[in-house]
Amino acid sequence: MLIHNLSQLLTLAGEPQRGSELGRLKIIPNGAVLVRGETFEVVGTADELLAAYPNEPRFDAGGGAALPGFVDPHTHLIWAGDRAAEFEMRLEGKTYLEILAAGGGILSTVRATRAASLDDLKEQTRTRMQAMFRCGTTTAEAKTGYGLESASELLQMQALLELDGEGPLELAPTYLGAHAIAPEYKDDPDGYTDLLCRQMLPELRSWWDRHAAGRPLPFVDIFCETGAFSLEQSRCVLSAARTLGFPLKIHADEFDNLGGASLAAELGAASADHLVKTSAIDITALAHSNTVAVALPCTPFGLAQAQYTPARQILAADGLLALASDINPGTAWCESMQFVIALACRYLKLTPAQAVAAATLNAAAAIGRSDRIGSIEAGKQADLIVLSVDDYRHLAYRFGGNLVKHVVKKGKVFTN
Ligand code: NIG
Ligand code: FE
Repeated sequence: MLIHNLSQLLTLAGEPQRGSELGRLKIIPNGAVLVRGETFEVVGTADELLAAYPNEPRFDAGGGAALPGFVDPHTHLIWAGDRAAEFEMRLEGKTYLEILAAGGGILSTVRATRAASLDDLKEQTRTRMQAMFRCGTTTAEAKTGYGLESASELLQMQALLELDGEGPLELAPTYLGAHAIAPEYKDDPDGYTDLLCRQMLPELRSWWDRHAAGRPLPFVDIFCETGAFSLEQSRCVLSAARTLGFPLKIHADEFDNLGGASLAAELGAASADHLVKTSAIDITALAHSNTVAVALPCTPFGLAQAQYTPARQILAADGLLALASDINPGTAWCESMQFVIALACRYLKLTPAQAVAAATLNAAAAIGRSDRIGSIEAGKQADLIVLSVDDYRHLAYRFGGNLVKHVVKKGKVFTN
């Protein structure tokens, strides 16, 4: 199939973009792509492709700008219930960490999620996945983390694998048994850390071999934060995960600077995420590594905080920067990477071109998949979105709506 009538074709061809390279979109005016099966076969101008493939079935995309499908590399996609009441408590002055310390926050979603059946969890999550897909996300990382006990964490993992199988949104799973100290270990955080290292992670490994054989191992993540896991506990859990062969991620410096970003660089994590309170030393450590810095602007926005990820400093240090939604029931219930881009341009001071690259190619790098997705190049998976406007900058300029007209996933066209 030949997809043509694309006013701007943002290919993002090439390697993930570091530092000042971020924002090289490689735009083909009046572009077209030839898709075979699930793969891009030829990428070029409409004039070239229409002449070279006169008998190929055609899809007229209507003159919109086209870009790689968004990759959302940090989501807490799977949970039950909501926390609208806590949102109101925060508006009245309680802080996020105070609510968590009082047994609410993540722990209130843990209660709801532990009580939900597999089908119920899948149903609630599927609704969010459909909204994300309509907004142009074609691949999303997805974390467990609302179980904090082995059986419940593995049930969430099973649901994620089944939802990934349903498609069309593709999922990259992450195990976040270390999202908070389990309520049963409230007074013994080291005990829970020990349980993770000695029991829960080895159990995940053998569960994976039995239930997901053949798939690459999931990421293991941890919330390194005051009131969650200390730097030492994070080092224990991530080192144990690494020994078992899992690739790593970390939540670092969302509220306090504990040194998690430097730990991520040291351990070769795929990404370090949040990075709001990150120090200059951490930024340098990250920039000298292949760990992708993932900024989540919906989170400070959702918490009505003034401080955002120092993205320009990360780029000045030559770091790899990506953007994600962080969709979760506490701080940021947002399905739209378009809104993430709009925030990133205003508060992280990215250009629209930088934000688009951070939400596609570099986001794919943050989940270790930039060899397969994140750009429009011959041989890559045919994931692409077409906008209802002919200038991609509207993605950043406008906000609150949905500018995606068509979503192409593995070569199949879905129209909003
Ligand atoms: O990334 N910080 C930890 N995890 C989420 C929030 C999860 C929740 O509040 O339920 C985050 O912001
Ligand atoms: Fe998160």
